[in-house]
Amino acid sequence: MSSALLLDLYPQIRLAHIGFVTASGTLFTLRAIATMTGARWSASKAARRASWLIDTGLLAAALLLLYVLQLNPFVVPWLAAKIVLLLVYIGLGTMALRRARSTSARIAWSIAALACFGMIVSIARAHDPLGFLRPWLG
Ligand code: HEM
Repeated sequence: MSSALLLDLYPQIRLAHIGFVTASGTLFTLRAIATMTGARWSASKAARRASWLIDTGLLAAALLLLYVLQLNPFVVPWLAAKIVLLLVYIGLGTMALRRARSTSARIAWSIAALACFGMIVSIARAHDPLGFLRPWLG
């Protein structure tokens, strides 16, 4: 299907992207809290599979948005910033849920991952690589 035909579906694809974003942030927060309190479900196959499915949907919707809007993420600074921070978020999330060995380390990595996630949302809302920091950093 051409990008012009898909343009009619832009509101639905954007909504799907935001829905996956909300689901991803919520599931990560619940898994992080569960990991800190020692609940085992966080590392279960079902939890990992749900995270994988949601994040794949999030990325698929993002790619569709890029296609529909005919945007090149390597040329548009706020989109490039989102990609870089998405990779950072994945790394911080892995530290929080899998690698960290002490509770304090898990808390620190989880807070860093959620701050990174919040920054991506702020960048998306502002269409600006500095997001909510723009007024302070000029
Ligand atoms: C954890 C990762 C991500 C989060 C939290 C996130 C969040 C969001 C949010 C909240 C919006 C709606 C912004 C608005 O109010 O219009 C949005 C839109 C969008 N996102 Fe993402 N996003 C993520 C990943 C990505 C990636 C990797 C890409 C591709 C480079 C991408 C591309 C887009 C595009 C093209 C839009 C539509 C902007 C528009 O309608 O003008 N997103 N994203």
